Amino acid sequence: MNNPIGVFDSGVGGLTVAREIMRQLPNENLVYFGDTARVPYGSKSKSTVLKYSRQIVRFLRTKNVKAIVVACNTASALALDEIAAELDIPIIGVVKPGAKMAVETTNTGNVGVIGTVSTVKSGIYNDYIRELNADITVVSKACPLFCPLVEEGLLEDRVTDDIAARYLQVMKEYKVDTLVLGCTHYPLIRNTIKRFMGDDVVLVNPAFETAKSLKELLTQRNLLNQEKQRPQHEYYVSDGVESFIAFADSVLPCHVTDTKVIDIESY
Ligand code: DGL
Repeated sequence: MNNPIGVFDSGVGGLTVAREIMRQLPNENLVYFGDTARVPYGSKSKSTVLKYSRQIVRFLRTKNVKAIVVACNTASALALDEIAAELDIPIIGVVKPGAKMAVETTNTGNVGVIGTVSTVKSGIYNDYIRELNADITVVSKACPLFCPLVEEGLLEDRVTDDIAARYLQVMKEYKVDTLVLGCTHYPLIRNTIKRFMGDDVVLVNPAFETAKSLKELLTQRNLLNQEKQRPQHEYYVSDGVESFIAFADSVLPCHVTDTKVIDIESY
């Protein structure tokens, strides 16, 4: 089936998920929406994130998507279950695949999770991880300054190292052996996080795990695109095309040419 896969995020962060989908499912057409006018979601309430996510899903459906990926940890935490119950096409988020991998990875049973304030407050990673294995201890920490640092391009910078040390000290104190990068931006400062945590701590990237789960899902449902043409990707944002394109070009394996602004409030 050559209909596109809809991928959405609060802004640019979900491009780390789109990147993994492009790598693992190189044949698939994508429609990406970044809610750049209303970002961040990570400090917003459940009702707001649910309202925004419903509008985005309505927009994506106008593009005849065959499946939807909620490429945002906060929206996956606060809105996915409700939206899934309202939809007749498959939808997956990034939290469950990340939680599953953390459970498979840990040897000591001490798992760390970092994410936005709203994701951490929701306790969702903790719930999924302990549903799979109640013996695991989960230590969570919100790292709200990481997103702006990434968007400022401070991927390798002393300031980012200092902030990481401050946020992640607690993970060392609890001796986690597995750390879930539970926010779309964090894979982009993987090196900084790794430097502080050390080589013995495994970093789980939910974006990678989500692309794997998506591939399984499309295979099971017979929805993979069998056509051999070059895939077409479309990009939509709610504001700020130029900064979106600049960021996308630094993250994605392909050059982003055409990005359109849409009025998401009208959906
Ligand atoms: N994409 C969001 C997430 O993964 C981070 C940015 C935001 O706060 O909206 O939670």
